[in-house]
Order: sequence, then structure tokens, then C-alpha cells
Amino acid sequence: MSRTQQAIQEFVNSEQEKMQTFNAFLRIPSVSSDPVMKPHMLQAAEFLKTCFEKLNMDEVRIYPTNLHPIVFAEKRSVQPGAKTLLVYGHYDVQPPDPLDSWTTPAFEPTIRGENLYARGASDMKGQIMATVFALESILQTGELPLNIKFILEGEEEVGSPSLDNFIHDHADLLKCDMILNPDAGMINKDSPTIVYGLRGLVYFEVRIDGPKMDLHSGLFGGNIANPANVLAKIIAQLHNPDGSVAIPGFYDRVRTLSDEDRRKIAMNPTSEAEFLAVTGAPALYGEQGYTLLERQGARPTLDVNGIYSGFIGEGAKTIIPAYAKAKISCRLVPDQQHSEIYELAEKYIRSLVPPAVNVHFIKHSGGPFYLADDAPGLKNYIDAFTETWQKDVVFKREGGSVPVATVMQEVLGVKSILCGLGLPDDAIHSPDEHLHLPTWRKGIQAYIRFLTSFEA
Ligand code: BES
Ligand code: MN
Repeated sequence: MSRTQQAIQEFVNSEQEKMQTFNAFLRIPSVSSDPVMKPHMLQAAEFLKTCFEKLNMDEVRIYPTNLHPIVFAEKRSVQPGAKTLLVYGHYDVQPPDPLDSWTTPAFEPTIRGENLYARGASDMKGQIMATVFALESILQTGELPLNIKFILEGEEEVGSPSLDNFIHDHADLLKCDMILNPDAGMINKDSPTIVYGLRGLVYFEVRIDGPKMDLHSGLFGGNIANPANVLAKIIAQLHNPDGSVAIPGFYDRVRTLSDEDRRKIAMNPTSEAEFLAVTGAPALYGEQGYTLLERQGARPTLDVNGIYSGFIGEGAKTIIPAYAKAKISCRLVPDQQHSEIYELAEKYIRSLVPPAVNVHFIKHSGGPFYLADDAPGLKNYIDAFTETWQKDVVFKREGGSVPVATVMQEVLGVKSILCGLGLPDDAIHSPDEHLHLPTWRKGIQAYIRFLTSFEA
């Protein structure tokens, strides 16, 4: 049996035991946005530390940050001149809300059919475990042909506020030749996918303040501006009738898609029907003049993520709300800069606010776009992926955001191999998030093939 086959067989033999470890990880409610869950963030970091200690890594360390700790681990190869691979991951997950929409509780991992259901199963505890298990199977069956480092953060789902500084301050620790980032996904279970583009993000909140308290709408209605009405009118002016964003200057830096860009994007075989089926929406809607895939990966958007005002309980209550709030985000494409887009948005929204109310802004996270044709090690990865699936690799410009890829490119000078195992219908960030286990198992094989491909 070849070295690679031995390691793959070792994973197959030990899968049941490894599944226990994976489930224990999924049971930890590591919700980074919720201050109440802070102890569980540390618990998740400690859990990973223990996993690495069991693997006899040369170094395992938890680095505290201002928010949630970063886990670092390193295993050095005995092979002289071995290359160094850095693996990125995030152990934090999105909030499980709305809780009553889950078939089984979010932090009680449950298998139904071919899927494992739990918050974080797909985004991305499953993929962290996949890389750890691939490494473990290799170490159990022989030498490691390259040096491997892990950086696992706990703040990705809140915009990684500590990560940039950490990478800047620990550039030596993180020095590497290649980066594997499985925080992206595949277009479907039969199409091994490499992501070559990601959108940037800017996220902010707008609050419209009117009267000092909720008022009787009969006594005061007609004489006092209603913050909910005002906010709705503002939101209605954020888009043009053709679906484009109405903020002046929003498109100034957007690169026009060349014929070559469009041809590459169109090579992704995702169909409109598949896309609609995942969403359950009755029809597609978007900016005119662009295809579904162009809108998804290469055109910017503005979306209201949440809106709150007044009485939302059962029945009727006649009031003018004291305030109205909206959480708004924009997905950004080359060469839009998130801080500049935030300023343009704030300026435009302020210009729409009537003097009868006050407006306040809160800026949340901002993150850069990513676009790269190549990455060191990509050829090895494509070979490993193709051999495992027996299918050609598909290249995709993805709509989601993974800002760390850009930061690592800038600070460490290394582009990332973006190669996750999540599927579009895994319901990430939604109730009933799940991981397709057959895809996950194949992914572990691909990771093993990739790691062993560096054997001298
Ligand atoms: N893993 C996702 C992003 C993703 C999903 C990329 C599928 C490619 C394919 C990541 O965890 C995520 O959701 N990121 C946030 C970033 C934000 C909070 C800064 C996002 O995109 O909303
Ligand atoms: Mn993720």
C-alpha cells in the first residue's frame, strides 16, 4: 500500500473514534458575538489545544486577545528543507437563532441521513477537524513530509477584530510557503471547487431617534415624525429601480468585468434552478445586466440584515415608536475600499434624514475583497482534489467574505488555497446547519493526498 493509501486507511479505521472528538467540539457553543458565551470560547480553544497535544505537536499555544483567544500549533518535519504549510481556521460559530427553527438543538450534533446537523458543522468546525484528522492519520502512519502550522481564531464571525494585529505582530511565527484556507466551499458535492475570489464587507447600523419615548399615535400622529416611517423611506432610497445601489460614488472604483473575467465566471456550472432550490425564494432578483454568478461573486451589493422598530408583539398597539434601527451591510468587489464605502454610505444617508429626527451610526466590521489567480501549492492541491473526486476542479468567485486571505497576502506575502468542503445547501448561518458527511470524508482524503504530495 502506498504511503497515501496507508494514511487514508488509517482514517477509515479510526473514523468512529474521531467522530466522538468532532461531536465533542460541536457541543461547545462557541458563539463569538454573544458575551454570555465567552467561557465557551475559551473552552473551545482549550479543546483544540488538547487535540494538538495528543498529536505531539512541537508547539501548542493559546494566545489571548482583547476578545477571543487564538490557537497556534506547529509540527516540524524531519525532512530537511521541508516546505511550511500554514492552515487557517475559525472555531467560532454564528448565533444559533432562531432557536425554534431547528429540528434538533443546535449544539446537540445529530446525524440524519448523510448529514451531521449542528451549528458550526459546516462553517467551519468540520473543516478544522478535517485538517486535524488528515494530519493525525499521516502522523500515525509515517513521517510528515512538510512543516505544518495552524492558526485558529475565535473572532471570524464578528469580523476578526484581533487578527490583523496578531498577524502583523507574529509574522515570524506564521512564516510559511503555502496557506491552506478551508473557510470557503464547493459548488456542489460532485464538483471539487477552488475559490479564487471573495467579496469584501462593510457592516454598520443606522438608528433614527424621534420622540423621547413611544407615543400615543392618535394624540401625536400627524405632528411628530415617525422614526419607522423615516427609516423605511431612507432604506427605499438605497437602491435604484434597476437593482443597483444608489449611494453616490459607490461604483466609482468597481472594476468593469472584462470578457475574460466573464468567461471565467461563466465556467462555473451552477444553474439558476439549483440556486433557487437552495433558497426557496419564488424567483431570482438582482442588478440588471449581470448573470447570477457575476452578481454573486463580482458585483457589489447592499442589504438590510435586520430592522427593528416599535411594537412587534402579538395583536395591535397604537404608537409612534421612539426609534427605528437597521443593520446594513455591503459586499464589496475590487477595487472598493470598505472604509471609503462606509463614509459614502454615511454621508448619503445623512443627506436623506429630515430635521424632525436625529440619526446615529455605529460602524461594525470592515474587510477587504480577495482576488488571486494562483497560490503556492495550488497545483498539488488541484491534483489531490481531482484524484479524490475523479472530476475536474471548478474555479469560483465566491460571494462570501474571508478577509484573512487578503491580510495574509499583504503581511506574509503568501496567497491562500481556498478550498473548503461546505456545500451551498449546508444552511450555514441558518437553522439546521449541517455537514454532508460523504463530502467531508472525501475532503479528508484530499487533504491527506495534498499533504503527502510533498514527500521527497
Ligand atoms: N465561511 C464563511 C464565508 C464563506 C462561505 C466563504 C461560503 C465562501 C463560501 C465565513 O465564515 C463567513 O461567513 N464570513 C462572514 C464574514 C464577516 C462576518 C466578516 C461573512 O461572509 O458574512
Ligand atoms: Mn467560516
